[in-house]
Amino acid sequence: MKMLRDSFGRTFPYIRLSITDVCNFKCGYCLPNGYQIDKSDNRKFLHIDEIKRLAKALSELGVCKIRLTGGEPTVRKDFFDIVKILKNESGIKKVVITTNGYHLDQKTKPLFDSGLNGINISIDSLDRETFKKVTGHDRLPEILSGIGKLQDLGFENIKINAVLLNGINSSEKDFEEWSKFIKSNKIDFRYIELMQTGDNLDYFNKYHVSASIFKNYLNKNKWIHQTLGRDAGPSLNYINPEFKGKFGIIAPYSKDFCKSCNRLRITSRGDLRLCLFGSTGISIRHLLQKDDQLEELKDLILKQLNFKKESHYLELGETGLTKNLSTTGG
Ligand code: 5AD
Ligand code: SF4
Repeated sequence: MKMLRDSFGRTFPYIRLSITDVCNFKCGYCLPNGYQIDKSDNRKFLHIDEIKRLAKALSELGVCKIRLTGGEPTVRKDFFDIVKILKNESGIKKVVITTNGYHLDQKTKPLFDSGLNGINISIDSLDRETFKKVTGHDRLPEILSGIGKLQDLGFENIKINAVLLNGINSSEKDFEEWSKFIKSNKIDFRYIELMQTGDNLDYFNKYHVSASIFKNYLNKNKWIHQTLGRDAGPSLNYINPEFKGKFGIIAPYSKDFCKSCNRLRITSRGDLRLCLFGSTGISIRHLLQKDDQLEELKDLILKQLNFKKESHYLELGETGLTKNLSTTGG
Protein backbone atom coordinates (compact mmCIF):
# COMPACT_ATOMS: atom_id res chain seq x y z
CA MET A 1 0.00 0.00 0.00
CA LYS A 2 1.09 3.52 -0.73
CA MET A 3 2.21 5.39 2.33
CA LEU A 4 2.96 9.02 2.87
CA ARG A 5 6.69 9.23 3.48
CA ASP A 6 9.05 12.18 3.12
CA SER A 7 12.69 12.29 2.09
CA PHE A 8 13.78 12.19 5.76
CA GLY A 9 11.99 8.92 6.45
CA ARG A 10 9.12 10.44 8.36
CA THR A 11 5.67 8.96 7.75
CA PHE A 12 2.38 10.80 7.95
CA PRO A 13 -0.49 8.78 9.35
CA TYR A 14 -2.07 11.94 10.70
CA ILE A 15 -3.61 14.99 9.00
CA ARG A 16 -4.85 18.20 10.51
CA LEU A 17 -7.65 19.64 8.48
CA SER A 18 -8.96 23.13 9.08
CA ILE A 19 -12.60 23.43 8.05
CA THR A 20 -13.04 27.14 8.74
CA ASP A 21 -10.92 30.16 9.66
CA VAL A 22 -13.77 31.68 11.61
CA CYS A 23 -13.35 31.80 15.34
CA ASN A 24 -15.52 33.36 18.00
CA PHE A 25 -12.72 33.79 20.55
CA LYS A 26 -10.08 36.50 20.73
CA CYS A 27 -7.02 34.79 22.11
CA GLY A 28 -4.25 37.33 22.62
CA TYR A 29 -1.64 35.27 20.76
CA CYS A 30 -3.87 34.41 17.81
CA LEU A 31 -6.77 36.75 17.01
CA PRO A 32 -6.55 39.58 19.57
CA ASN A 33 -9.12 41.63 17.67
CA GLY A 34 -11.29 38.66 16.82
CA TYR A 35 -11.75 37.04 13.44
CA GLN A 36 -11.63 39.47 10.53
CA ILE A 37 -12.67 38.53 7.05
CA ASP A 38 -9.66 38.40 4.76
CA LYS A 39 -10.74 40.57 1.83
CA SER A 40 -7.81 39.47 -0.29
CA ASP A 41 -9.03 35.88 -0.24
CA ASN A 42 -12.62 35.35 -1.28
CA ARG A 43 -12.35 31.59 -1.76
CA LYS A 44 -15.00 29.69 0.17
CA PHE A 45 -14.16 27.17 2.85
CA LEU A 46 -14.01 23.56 1.68
CA HIS A 47 -17.40 22.10 0.88
CA ILE A 48 -18.42 18.89 2.63
CA ASP A 49 -18.17 17.00 -0.69
CA GLU A 50 -14.61 18.25 -1.18
CA ILE A 51 -13.79 17.18 2.36
CA LYS A 52 -15.18 13.73 1.69
CA ARG A 53 -13.07 13.25 -1.47
CA LEU A 54 -9.99 14.52 0.29
CA ALA A 55 -10.46 12.15 3.22
CA LYS A 56 -10.98 9.20 0.91
CA ALA A 57 -7.72 9.94 -0.92
CA LEU A 58 -5.89 10.38 2.35
CA SER A 59 -7.18 7.13 3.75
CA GLU A 60 -5.94 5.37 0.62
CA LEU A 61 -2.56 6.96 1.29
CA GLY A 62 -2.39 5.28 4.69
CA VAL A 63 -3.74 8.16 6.77
CA CYS A 64 -5.63 6.74 9.74
CA LYS A 65 -6.38 9.86 11.73
CA ILE A 66 -7.81 13.26 10.86
CA ARG A 67 -8.01 16.13 13.29
CA LEU A 68 -10.60 18.76 12.45
CA THR A 69 -9.51 22.22 13.51
CA GLY A 70 -10.34 25.81 12.72
CA GLY A 71 -10.53 28.61 13.59
CA GLU A 72 -13.21 26.99 15.64
CA PRO A 73 -14.48 23.92 13.76
CA THR A 74 -17.80 23.74 15.59
CA VAL A 75 -18.96 27.10 14.22
CA ARG A 76 -19.65 25.39 10.91
CA LYS A 77 -23.33 24.61 10.58
CA ASP A 78 -22.54 21.29 8.94
CA PHE A 79 -19.91 20.37 11.54
CA PHE A 80 -21.66 17.20 12.70
CA ASP A 81 -22.39 16.16 9.10
CA ILE A 82 -18.69 16.46 8.35
CA VAL A 83 -17.79 14.29 11.34
CA LYS A 84 -20.36 11.69 10.31
CA ILE A 85 -19.18 11.54 6.70
CA LEU A 86 -15.57 11.18 7.79
CA LYS A 87 -16.47 8.49 10.29
CA ASN A 88 -18.76 6.49 8.05
CA GLU A 89 -17.82 7.07 4.45
CA SER A 90 -14.15 7.95 4.11
CA GLY A 91 -12.21 4.97 5.44
CA ILE A 92 -10.49 7.17 8.05
CA LYS A 93 -10.38 5.26 11.33
CA LYS A 94 -10.00 8.04 13.85
CA VAL A 95 -11.60 11.44 13.73
CA VAL A 96 -10.75 13.91 16.46
CA ILE A 97 -11.23 17.64 16.91
CA THR A 98 -9.57 20.64 18.49
CA THR A 99 -12.06 23.12 19.91
CA ASN A 100 -12.13 26.20 22.08
CA GLY A 101 -15.00 24.61 24.01
CA TYR A 102 -17.52 27.28 23.16
CA HIS A 103 -20.99 26.08 24.27
CA LEU A 104 -19.47 22.73 25.12
CA ASP A 105 -22.04 22.07 27.83
CA GLN A 106 -24.80 22.19 25.18
CA LYS A 107 -23.06 20.00 22.64
CA THR A 108 -21.94 17.01 24.66
CA LYS A 109 -24.64 14.60 23.55
CA PRO A 110 -24.23 15.15 19.78
CA LEU A 111 -20.46 15.08 20.24
CA PHE A 112 -20.68 11.74 21.96
CA ASP A 113 -23.22 10.37 19.47
CA SER A 114 -21.19 11.47 16.45
CA GLY A 115 -18.60 8.79 17.16
CA LEU A 116 -15.72 11.24 17.50
CA ASN A 117 -12.62 9.48 18.77
CA GLY A 118 -11.18 12.33 20.76
CA ILE A 119 -11.44 15.96 21.67
CA ASN A 120 -8.75 18.52 22.45
CA ILE A 121 -10.04 21.53 24.30
CA SER A 122 -8.02 24.71 24.66
CA ILE A 123 -8.09 26.05 28.20
CA ASP A 124 -5.32 28.47 29.01
CA SER A 125 -6.18 28.81 32.69
CA LEU A 126 -8.39 27.27 35.35
CA ASP A 127 -8.85 30.72 36.82
CA ARG A 128 -12.02 32.27 35.44
CA GLU A 129 -10.67 35.83 35.27
CA THR A 130 -7.43 34.78 33.62
CA PHE A 131 -9.31 32.67 31.10
CA LYS A 132 -11.45 35.66 30.27
CA LYS A 133 -8.44 37.92 29.92
CA VAL A 134 -6.67 35.59 27.47
CA THR A 135 -9.62 34.58 25.29
CA GLY A 136 -11.86 37.64 25.59
CA HIS A 137 -14.71 35.40 26.76
CA ASP A 138 -16.06 34.53 30.18
CA ARG A 139 -16.75 30.94 29.23
CA LEU A 140 -14.67 28.79 31.53
CA PRO A 141 -17.65 27.51 33.57
CA GLU A 142 -19.56 26.22 30.52
CA ILE A 143 -16.46 24.47 29.25
CA LEU A 144 -15.71 22.77 32.56
CA SER A 145 -19.31 21.73 32.90
CA GLY A 146 -19.19 20.35 29.34
CA ILE A 147 -16.12 18.30 30.21
CA GLY A 148 -17.94 16.86 33.23
CA LYS A 149 -20.86 15.88 31.04
CA LEU A 150 -18.62 14.26 28.43
CA GLN A 151 -17.00 12.21 31.17
CA ASP A 152 -20.41 11.17 32.52
CA LEU A 153 -21.36 9.97 29.05
CA GLY A 154 -18.20 7.88 28.97
CA PHE A 155 -16.41 9.90 26.28
CA GLU A 156 -12.82 8.67 26.13
CA ASN A 157 -9.77 10.61 25.08
CA ILE A 158 -10.26 14.14 26.35
CA LYS A 159 -7.21 16.36 26.19
CA ILE A 160 -6.67 19.93 27.31
CA ASN A 161 -4.12 22.27 25.76
CA ALA A 162 -2.89 25.53 27.21
CA VAL A 163 -0.47 27.94 25.65
CA LEU A 164 2.21 28.68 28.23
CA LEU A 165 2.26 32.44 28.85
CA ASN A 166 4.81 34.11 31.06
CA GLY A 167 3.23 35.71 34.13
CA ILE A 168 -0.27 34.58 33.09
CA ASN A 169 -0.33 30.82 33.61
CA SER A 170 3.30 29.97 34.23
CA SER A 171 3.62 30.02 38.03
CA GLU A 172 4.07 27.07 40.34
CA LYS A 173 0.55 27.79 41.58
CA ASP A 174 -0.85 27.39 38.05
CA PHE A 175 1.00 24.09 37.68
CA GLU A 176 -0.44 22.95 41.02
CA GLU A 177 -3.97 23.82 39.88
CA TRP A 178 -3.60 21.65 36.79
CA SER A 179 -2.02 18.97 38.89
CA LYS A 180 -5.03 18.90 41.21
CA PHE A 181 -7.29 18.79 38.17
CA ILE A 182 -5.70 15.77 36.53
CA LYS A 183 -5.25 13.92 39.80
CA SER A 184 -8.90 12.92 39.73
CA ASN A 185 -9.70 13.43 36.02
CA LYS A 186 -8.54 11.02 33.35
CA ILE A 187 -7.53 13.87 31.08
CA ASP A 188 -4.21 14.66 29.43
CA PHE A 189 -3.12 18.22 29.96
CA ARG A 190 -0.42 19.79 27.81
CA TYR A 191 1.35 23.08 27.77
CA ILE A 192 2.27 24.37 24.33
CA GLU A 193 5.13 26.79 24.18
CA LEU A 194 4.03 30.07 22.62
CA MET A 195 5.02 30.28 18.96
CA GLN A 196 5.90 33.40 17.10
CA THR A 197 3.69 34.10 14.09
CA GLY A 198 3.61 36.89 11.52
CA ASP A 199 1.04 38.81 13.58
CA ASN A 200 2.06 38.35 17.19
CA LEU A 201 5.64 39.55 17.57
CA ASP A 202 4.99 42.03 20.41
CA TYR A 203 2.82 39.52 22.25
CA PHE A 204 5.44 36.87 21.72
CA ASN A 205 8.23 39.05 23.09
CA LYS A 206 6.14 39.88 26.13
CA TYR A 207 4.83 36.42 27.02
CA HIS A 208 7.08 33.79 25.57
CA VAL A 209 8.75 31.60 28.16
CA SER A 210 10.58 28.34 27.64
CA ALA A 211 8.61 25.21 28.47
CA SER A 212 11.61 24.09 30.50
CA ILE A 213 10.08 25.80 33.54
CA PHE A 214 7.24 23.32 33.40
CA LYS A 215 9.61 20.47 32.67
CA ASN A 216 11.58 21.36 35.80
CA TYR A 217 8.37 21.35 37.82
CA LEU A 218 7.52 17.88 36.52
CA ASN A 219 10.96 16.52 37.26
CA LYS A 220 10.89 17.98 40.76
CA ASN A 221 7.52 16.39 41.43
CA LYS A 222 8.45 12.88 40.35
CA TRP A 223 6.68 12.78 37.03
CA ILE A 224 8.11 10.12 34.77
CA HIS A 225 8.92 10.86 31.15
CA GLN A 226 7.18 8.33 28.96
CA THR A 227 8.80 7.35 25.72
CA LEU A 228 6.24 6.52 23.10
CA GLY A 229 6.27 4.79 19.76
CA ARG A 230 7.71 6.25 16.61
CA ASP A 231 4.41 7.66 15.42
CA ALA A 232 3.54 9.38 18.67
CA GLY A 233 4.19 12.90 17.45
CA PRO A 234 6.18 15.74 18.91
CA SER A 235 4.73 15.99 22.42
CA LEU A 236 6.70 14.90 25.50
CA ASN A 237 4.50 12.92 27.85
CA TYR A 238 4.76 12.41 31.60
CA ILE A 239 3.01 9.92 33.84
CA ASN A 240 2.59 9.53 37.57
CA PRO A 241 0.86 6.50 39.08
CA GLU A 242 -0.96 8.63 41.62
CA PHE A 243 -2.72 10.64 38.92
CA LYS A 244 -5.53 9.61 36.62
CA GLY A 245 -4.45 12.08 33.93
CA LYS A 246 -1.12 12.77 32.26
CA PHE A 247 0.97 15.84 31.65
CA GLY A 248 2.57 16.79 28.37
CA ILE A 249 4.74 19.45 26.80
CA ILE A 250 4.86 20.68 23.24
CA ALA A 251 8.01 22.69 22.82
CA PRO A 252 8.40 23.64 19.17
CA TYR A 253 11.64 25.51 19.78
CA SER A 254 13.39 22.52 21.27
CA LYS A 255 16.13 20.76 19.41
CA ASP A 256 14.93 17.80 17.35
CA PHE A 257 11.25 18.75 17.70
CA CYS A 258 10.68 18.25 14.00
CA LYS A 259 12.25 14.80 13.94
CA SER A 260 9.07 13.27 15.26
CA CYS A 261 6.75 15.30 13.06
CA ASN A 262 4.02 13.00 11.78
CA ARG A 263 1.49 15.47 10.48
CA LEU A 264 0.55 17.45 7.43
CA ARG A 265 -1.97 20.23 7.34
CA ILE A 266 -4.71 21.21 4.97
CA THR A 267 -6.16 24.67 5.24
CA SER A 268 -9.82 25.56 5.19
CA ARG A 269 -9.50 26.60 1.55
CA GLY A 270 -7.76 23.48 0.39
CA ASP A 271 -4.06 24.31 0.49
CA LEU A 272 -1.74 21.51 1.49
CA ARG A 273 0.75 22.76 4.09
CA LEU A 274 3.77 20.63 4.65
CA CYS A 275 4.66 22.36 7.89
CA LEU A 276 2.77 24.70 10.20
CA PHE A 277 5.46 27.26 9.59
CA GLY A 278 6.73 26.22 6.20
CA SER A 279 6.43 28.62 3.33
CA THR A 280 5.54 25.65 1.14
CA GLY A 281 1.85 25.39 0.44
CA ILE A 282 0.02 24.57 -2.75
CA SER A 283 -3.65 24.29 -3.49
CA ILE A 284 -4.96 20.79 -4.08
CA ARG A 285 -8.51 21.96 -4.42
CA HIS A 286 -8.75 21.65 -8.19
CA LEU A 287 -8.47 17.90 -7.65
CA LEU A 288 -11.29 17.76 -5.10
CA GLN A 289 -14.02 18.53 -7.60
CA LYS A 290 -14.94 15.11 -8.97
CA ASP A 291 -14.81 11.57 -7.68
CA ASP A 292 -12.78 10.40 -10.66
CA GLN A 293 -9.86 12.68 -9.76
CA LEU A 294 -8.91 10.43 -6.85
CA GLU A 295 -5.75 8.92 -8.37
CA GLU A 296 -4.50 12.27 -9.61
CA LEU A 297 -5.08 13.79 -6.19
CA LYS A 298 -3.15 11.01 -4.48
CA ASP A 299 -0.25 11.48 -6.88
CA LEU A 300 -0.10 15.20 -6.27
CA ILE A 301 -0.03 14.77 -2.49
CA LEU A 302 2.68 12.12 -2.76
CA LYS A 303 4.79 14.36 -4.99
CA GLN A 304 4.40 17.37 -2.72
CA LEU A 305 5.74 15.45 0.24
CA ASN A 306 9.17 15.42 -1.36
CA PHE A 307 9.29 19.15 -0.68
CA LYS A 308 8.84 18.83 3.06
CA LYS A 309 11.85 20.30 4.79
CA GLU A 310 13.73 18.78 7.66
CA SER A 311 12.94 21.51 10.19
CA HIS A 312 10.75 24.57 10.62
CA TYR A 313 13.72 26.88 11.26
CA LEU A 314 11.60 28.73 13.82
CA GLU A 315 14.64 29.35 15.96
CA LEU A 316 15.91 31.54 13.13
CA GLY A 317 12.81 33.71 13.48
CA GLU A 318 11.20 32.29 10.36
CA THR A 319 7.43 32.30 10.42
CA GLY A 320 6.82 31.25 6.86
CA LEU A 321 3.34 31.96 5.58
CA THR A 322 1.73 31.89 8.98
CA LYS A 323 0.12 35.16 10.04
CA ASN A 324 -1.65 33.50 12.94
CA LEU A 325 -2.75 29.97 13.69
CA SER A 326 -6.44 30.48 12.98
CA THR A 327 -6.06 29.33 9.38
CA THR A 328 -4.13 26.19 10.18
CA GLY A 329 -5.50 25.30 13.57
CA GLY A 330 -2.28 25.10 15.57
N1 5AD B 1 1.51 29.49 19.83
C1 5AD B 1 1.17 28.32 20.44
N2 5AD B 1 -0.05 27.79 20.39
C2 5AD B 1 -0.98 28.44 19.71
N3 5AD B 1 -2.29 28.17 19.51
C3 5AD B 1 -2.81 29.14 18.73
N4 5AD B 1 -1.87 30.06 18.44
C4 5AD B 1 -0.73 29.66 19.06
C5 5AD B 1 0.60 30.18 19.13
N5 5AD B 1 0.95 31.32 18.52
C6 5AD B 1 -2.96 27.00 20.07
C7 5AD B 1 -4.32 27.23 20.65
C8 5AD B 1 -4.91 25.85 20.62
C9 5AD B 1 -4.24 25.20 19.46
C10 5AD B 1 -5.18 24.98 18.34
O1 5AD B 1 -3.19 26.05 19.06
O2 5AD B 1 -4.37 27.72 21.93
O3 5AD B 1 -4.64 25.13 21.80
FE1 SF4 C 1 -9.76 31.05 18.17
FE2 SF4 C 1 -8.08 29.06 18.65
FE3 SF4 C 1 -7.15 31.40 17.72
FE4 SF4 C 1 -8.12 31.23 20.23
S1 SF4 C 1 -6.30 30.18 19.40
S2 SF4 C 1 -8.57 32.85 18.73
S3 SF4 C 1 -9.74 29.78 20.03
S4 SF4 C 1 -8.47 30.00 16.61
